[in-house]
Amino acid sequence: MTAGEPAPAGAAAIIVAAGSGTRFGSPDKVLLRLAGRPMIAYALDAAERSASITAIVVVAGAHTMPAIAALIGEGHWRKVRRIVLGGERRQDSVEAGLAALDPEIDIVAVHDAARPLVSPHLFDTCIVAARAHGAAIAALPLTDTLKRVHDRLITATIPRDETWAAQTPQAARRDLLVRAYAAAHRDGLAVTDEAGLLEAVGIAVAVVEGPSTNIKITRPEDLPLAEALLALAHGHEASP
Ligand code: CTP
Ligand code: MG
Repeated sequence: MTAGEPAPAGAAAIIVAAGSGTRFGSPDKVLLRLAGRPMIAYALDAAERSASITAIVVVAGAHTMPAIAALIGEGHWRKVRRIVLGGERRQDSVEAGLAALDPEIDIVAVHDAARPLVSPHLFDTCIVAARAHGAAIAALPLTDTLKRVHDRLITATIPRDETWAAQTPQAARRDLLVRAYAAAHRDGLAVTDEAGLLEAVGIAVAVVEGPSTNIKITRPEDLPLAEALLALAHGHEASP
């Protein structure tokens, strides 16, 4: 590349790992051992192996920064460009990751460090769909009937046919995310995922069907389930 030429576009993964693990009961949730390795290592492996991803930014908490920096310092993930400090809310952590992207990145896939079952293929699928539609997230069509509940009493049944559970990766064009964050600051929006921000400013978000195995480790009982799913997934990889 010569001076003046634009850098080739690229896609980045932002791995968010700055939560406090309240429901799990451990602030170190993303570093807990899962089948012998720290939980965050699995999401990093998948992003590293994704053909679409050219760079990885890791968002760590103040309490986990030293351990995460040491782990990444071991050098297993050559795409990691930066490790930055997250914020109080998940949306603040994602924003810190966005601010750390190199200029050539035009697509961003945000992924929870607490979802170790993600595959390189799911990253690729979300990124390809985001290039086509502007934004695309992994999500799972629900199979249970949903009830709205107040004080332990059902107040409504929500028709199942149009309900999906949002997962990560959540991929979007960088400029759309930047625009959504600007609006969030202007209007004081609070959301639990990036898709929520994009929706709030009227940007269409597509869904890509994510596997039911792409669970988030939220509570202690999710850990043995994730280990069993990892054993299955790796067994499949090993078989011819
Ligand atoms: N996360 C983050 N910054 C925050 C909150 C969450 O980077 N301020 C990350 C978590 O580290 C996790 C992902 O977002 O990888 C999904 O969050 P969740 O499963 O809710 O984890 P925690 O927020 O840590 O758990 P809890 O809500 O029970 O405190
Ligand atoms: Mg949380």
